[in-house]
Amino acid sequence: MRPIPVVALLFQFVLHHLPDLGDAARILAVIPSASRSHHVPFQPLWRTLASRGHRLTVITTDPVRDPAASNLTEVDISHCYRIYDEHRVTELFVDETKSFGEIAAVLRVTFEECHDYILSLEEVQRFIHDDSVEFDLVMVEAQLPTMLAFAWRFRCPSIGIASLEPAMQIHDSLGNLVHPVVNPDPNLNIEDDARMGFWDRLKSAAYVMVYKLFVYNRSYPNYHAQMKRYFGNDLPDLRELQDNISMLFVGTHPLFHNMKLSNLNTISVGGGMHISPPKALPLDLQKFLDEAERGVIYFSLGSNVKANLLTESFKKAITGAFAEIPYKVLLKMDDVLVDASENVLVRKWMPQQDILRHKNVKLFITQGGLQSLQESVVNGIPLIGIPFFGDQITNVNKMVKKGYGLKINRRTITKDILVSAIKEVMDNPKYRETAELMGEIFRDEEIPSLQRAVYWTEYVIRHKGAKHLRSPSLGMPAWKFYMLDVLGFLFVTCLLVLMVFYYCVKMFCRLVRRLCCNGGRPRSNRSKIKRN
Ligand SMILES: *[C@@H]1O[C@H](CO)[C@@H](O)[C@H](O)[C@H]1NC(C)=O
Ligand SMILES: *[C@@H]1O[C@H](CO)[C@@H](O)[C@H](O)[C@H]1NC(C)=O
Ligand SMILES: *[C@@H]1O[C@H](CO)[C@@H](O)[C@H](O)[C@H]1NC(C)=O
Repeated sequence: MRPIPVVALLFQFVLHHLPDLGDAARILAVIPSASRSHHVPFQPLWRTLASRGHRLTVITTDPVRDPAASNLTEVDISHCYRIYDEHRVTELFVDETKSFGEIAAVLRVTFEECHDYILSLEEVQRFIHDDSVEFDLVMVEAQLPTMLAFAWRFRCPSIGIASLEPAMQIHDSLGNLVHPVVNPDPNLNIEDDARMGFWDRLKSAAYVMVYKLFVYNRSYPNYHAQMKRYFGNDLPDLRELQDNISMLFVGTHPLFHNMKLSNLNTISVGGGMHISPPKALPLDLQKFLDEAERGVIYFSLGSNVKANLLTESFKKAITGAFAEIPYKVLLKMDDVLVDASENVLVRKWMPQQDILRHKNVKLFITQGGLQSLQESVVNGIPLIGIPFFGDQITNVNKMVKKGYGLKINRRTITKDILVSAIKEVMDNPKYRETAELMGEIFRDEEIPSLQRAVYWTEYVIRHKGAKHLRSPSLGMPAWKFYMLDVLGFLFVTCLLVLMVFYYCVKMFCRLVRRLCCNGGRPRSNRSKIKRN
């Protein structure tokens, strides 16, 4: 059972089942990350808000350029992709020999260059300096608080948005539980985070402390200095801007992420906002899929893992494996694959969602990006994950643990490993059955994520922020939050009580002994005699 009619109705539903719009608002959205997956989930939100009469300006590296969306203006900053490429950011993520420090240093330079590029654009300069430009709400990718400077500039509330699990300091600012043992940071790649041993817990706690010190004492002051050059010297601390976020939209979902204790101002929109209504496939693809009686495997490593990141032995392993299996393969890759066998159709781009809806697609081989997992699960298709970097690693581990697919290490992959993994997932029905169960849970949302995002966006506009949802933990130092003083006081008190008790007992014993001695025969005399 595939959810086609439900998805098709969703957009209509969203438009007609929301409270009436008060005044149309002017909304500025800024998403500086040059990664398609950070933009795609929110594109339906921009469209829906615009069609509800709000006037949107979206600064994005992936504009949709839809001439029909008349209330949606886009500022194209796709040049940021070029800046990422110049600094070889994806290669850096994939290179396991690089340390956190080295990666952080390159990222800092890359982000600063992107900030300079974005904020120097003529249109953006006008937003900063032209007093006639006004916005009622600023929505900013909650990866770095730099672009929250716009909320300060327009004296308006802000909403943070994140297609993935955002960094821990953002959760801190919303009053969500940041706990190194309950929710260890995904970057630590702890194998089994439900059963961490002592050293893992120590590592996780130390990581949180060092990370926060780095962010607040090194990273943010540097970015703040840069932002002041554009917004003026009055610009408050980035941490202050971050603590002033009214709401956070996160693309997380309990099927793909660990549960986290969150405040009411953190809205989960991870139900697949980007899942679009079905569209007809191109005729050749439709024919290819229809004619594959034994089934089709869809292979794609997403938009960030390009062919130039793949080793020759990796490419050999996949072409070799595909030549041996009795299934057809649709392979998305940005480069030609020499010696691909006849059953393989290679394309630079594929309509992934519509391919995964086809009943003959039996398996999806993926790098493990969140949206790919969602698109697979919503159609009940099992997976083989070959993660490369970032959240792909934790996504795939989680998928394997839930039992709807297998993981292959990209460094040690061979033809035989891939063939046997394909055989296992294709022949053992448990993977497909689990994927279908996951799909049922995933599709069962109280309110569709898109509708929830629209509602809470307008809520922030209506109430000019959400101060009443701020957590009392905001600005509380860690020692207070973790009650170190209270626990210390209780510990010392217990210690004192125990000591007093111990001395009382000791004195009592001594007293008893003395009384016993005095009451009985004069033992002291005897001992004196003995000593003599
Ligand atoms: C743009 O907003 C107006 C109201 O401000 C609305 O009437 C119109 O339908 C919107 N345009 C589109 C294409 O959604
Ligand atoms: C904090 O947010 C409120 C709206 O929620 C806004 O009016 C105010 O200007 C913001 N303060 C700063 C320092 O950005
Ligand atoms: C943070 O950095 C400043 C200098 O920028 C330094 O004076 C201060 O001691 C640092 N704080 C900590 C806790 O390391």
